[in-house]
Amino acid sequence: MIDLFWLFIRWIHVLAAVIWIGGNLILAMVIVPYFRKNLPPVQRIKLLTHIGKRFEPIVWGCVIILLFTGIANIFEAIDFSASLESEVVSNFMRTLFIKLMLFIALVVLTGLHSFVYGPKLASAIETLDETMDDLPNDIKPFVKKISIVSSMMGVVSLLILLAAVALRMGI
Ligand code: HEM
Repeated sequence: MIDLFWLFIRWIHVLAAVIWIGGNLILAMVIVPYFRKNLPPVQRIKLLTHIGKRFEPIVWGCVIILLFTGIANIFEAIDFSASLESEVVSNFMRTLFIKLMLFIALVVLTGLHSFVYGPKLASAIETLDETMDDLPNDIKPFVKKISIVSSMMGVVSLLILLAAVALRMGI
């Protein structure tokens, strides 16, 4: 019975990770490049803002689930009878610490993207004509900033997955 409970917690943890990280990667690798190739910039940014708004509650739901199930996973994964000096425990603590730092970095980047740069860019283009071929020069730095933040989110996401696998392998 207890194994089924931990299986459920682990499943929910991986599910939330897949939805958040997978969603970010699909946006960055498929949707944004497709829009870049096929839509004028103002229309592209407006559509991405709508998509982002729909994805946002899912993302923050995943963040909360990952935090709580992650804390639960710690209790399941650690052998509390083992010495703190043992190699297995110190490797686990080190990799978990790295994973948590990466998790915090990803939450901060996601917050900047959702609550700072995204809304600023959306309001800056609100009144622009959707058929314009190029963005006005004063808007371009916003786009640059948001694409740097998005790339960093992609890199940090991949590093979290690496840390998760390392944790599992006891590295
Ligand atoms: C974006 C955030 C996160 C992602 C993508 C992620 C991903 C994963 C994945 C894929 C696993 C492997 C499951 C398995 O092999 O059974 C895992 C396990 C684990 N995660 Fe996370 N996780 C995240 C956040 C967190 C957080 C915030 C914590 C702690 C508070 C945490 C703690 C753990 C622990 C302790 C394990 C079990 C390791 C083991 O079995 O040795 N995770 N995570």
